[in-house]
Amino acid sequence: MEIIRSVEWMKQTARAAESAKHLVGFVPTMGALHEGHLSLVRAAKRQCSPVMVSIFVNPAQFGPGEDLEKYPRNFEKDCALLESLGVEYVFAPEASEIYPAGFRTSVRVEGLSEKFEGRVRPGHFQGVCTVVLKLLEIVRPRFAYFGRKDAQQARIVRQMVSDLNLDTEIVVCPIVRESDGLAMSSRNAYLDPAERRAATVLYRSLDAARRKINSGARAAGEILDAVNSTIASEKLAKLDYAELVDADSFERVDFLRGTCLLLLAARVGSTRLIDNMFIDAARDFSVSL
Ligand code: PAJ
Repeated sequence: MEIIRSVEWMKQTARAAESAKHLVGFVPTMGALHEGHLSLVRAAKRQCSPVMVSIFVNPAQFGPGEDLEKYPRNFEKDCALLESLGVEYVFAPEASEIYPAGFRTSVRVEGLSEKFEGRVRPGHFQGVCTVVLKLLEIVRPRFAYFGRKDAQQARIVRQMVSDLNLDTEIVVCPIVRESDGLAMSSRNAYLDPAERRAATVLYRSLDAARRKINSGARAAGEILDAVNSTIASEKLAKLDYAELVDADSFERVDFLRGTCLLLLAARVGSTRLIDNMFIDAARDFSVSL
C-alpha cells in the first residue's frame, strides 16, 4: 500500500491507472476509521481495482467552535486497517496541500445544502462539496463510495456530480451499526459511558417509528410522534430535528409516498449525533435502518 501526500503525485498515479484501463474506486474519509468506513472500502474492493482511500480532516467543513482540533486522528491504525483490506493507495495530504495560500474557490449546491444539517452547520456542505470536488478531480475515479449514514451529504454530492458532469458514479452504502443499534461514527468516541448508553436512543426512536409504520401508520405526524416521545424519554438526549422527507428532494412530506427518509439529529451531552432510516412506499413500505 502506497501512502501519497502530494496532489501532483496522486494525480499522476490516478492518471496512470486510468490510462492502463484500470477501474479506480475511491473512498473519501476523514480518518479515525471504523466498520462504517471499512464497509465502503469493502464495497469498493468488490467492484474496483485499484482502490484509493483519502484521509483528510477537511478544515473547510468545520464551523467556528466545532470540533476540528479535537476530531479523532489515528493515522497509523487507519493505515494498518486499510492495508489489511488490500487498499492500494492512501491519499493523506496536509491541509496546505489542498488549500494553499491564496485558495479562493468554493462549491455550493443550492437548496439542498441549506436545510437540516446545513441549517445547524452553516457552510458545512459548501466545505464538503469543495473538498469532494477537488478529490474527485484529483483521483477521477470510476466509482466513489459514500455512506447513507450521512444521507444529506450523499444526496448533495450526487447532485454536484450530476450538475458538473463528472465521470464518477456515486455509490451509497448502508448504515453500519454497533450491536446495540448505534450508528457507527468517529464522534461516538466523545461519549462517556453514560452518554454512550443514552446514545442508543436515536436507534430506539427510529425503531419505534419503524414499528409504527409496520403497524400501518402512514402520516408523518403519527410516525414522528413515536420518535419525539422516545427521544424525550432519555434525559441525556436533546432532539435537534426529526423530519420525514422525500428521499430525492429532501422536502418535508405529510404522508409516506415514493421513497422517504426519516432524518434525525440529537445532542447526547455535548456530542451531536445524526441517524436516519429509509422507507420505500412502493415496496410495501419496507424500512432500512
Ligand atoms: P467521514 O465522516 O470520515 O465519513 C466518510 C464516509 O464514511 C462517509 O461517506 C460517511 O457517510 C461514511 N460513514 C460514516 N459512518 C458510517 C456508518 N456507520 N455506516 C456507513 N457509512 C458510514 O463524511 C465525511 O467523512 C466527509 O464529509 C468527507 C466526505 C470525507 C469529505 O470531507
